[in-house]
Amino acid sequence: MKYFLDSALTKEIHYAYENWAIDGVTTNPKHIMNSGKSFLTIVDELAGEFGEIKNFPISVEINPHLDNAREMVTEGKKIAARSSNFVVKIPCTEPGLIAAKELKKEGISTNVTLVFSPSQAIQTARIGAAFVSPFVGWKENSGEDTAQYIQDIVNIYKTYGFETEIIVAALRNGKQIVDAAKAGAHIVTCGFDVYRSSFDHAFTDYGLNVFRNAWDQTKTEEAVSK
Ligand code: E4P
Repeated sequence: MKYFLDSALTKEIHYAYENWAIDGVTTNPKHIMNSGKSFLTIVDELAGEFGEIKNFPISVEINPHLDNAREMVTEGKKIAARSSNFVVKIPCTEPGLIAAKELKKEGISTNVTLVFSPSQAIQTARIGAAFVSPFVGWKENSGEDTAQYIQDIVNIYKTYGFETEIIVAALRNGKQIVDAAKAGAHIVTCGFDVYRSSFDHAFTDYGLNVFRNAWDQTKTEEAVSK
């Protein structure tokens, strides 16, 4: 399963690419707002610093105020022209799905986002989007089951041979990453801190202390290093 970083901060992205081998990036208007920079500044930074990496998709979300397909297509083309790694992130509304279908015809990859039901995921795949982003965290906040929801999308895609890749999004913890992997999702996208805490375990720290104590009590001449 691939790991994408959900971020607009180039420092975080560099770190996660070099140290964690992340496979791509997703961003959204909230991340851009939190960066304190303008949309175009971030887009240019992402294109300039990560645009040359092979097989490294970077989803850039269109202006969320756009509500007709024609305008979405125009904006999507402008975004896609800035880097061959850019994937146009479009909301799963009817105009969004129409725009994604048109962009596919132009050879532009899309990531249909804000997906909350398998029926939305089916139409996303039918119109040939490169990626679909079903959200998990937001549904779980509302008390909904999400493991089965992701499993249903994976099963439906397998049954019909849909090629759209599933990016399980808005994940909050390691368990949700594991649920996505168990369901057979292609990709997860998480914030920097979610990945970092998913690498840790309290027993790893406990065990390290046990082994350090043992090391310190081992005869010095038998130790490889102090
Ligand atoms: C995914 O592509 C989104 O950018 C992201 O996961 C949105 O959700 P969040 O900001 O609540 O995590």
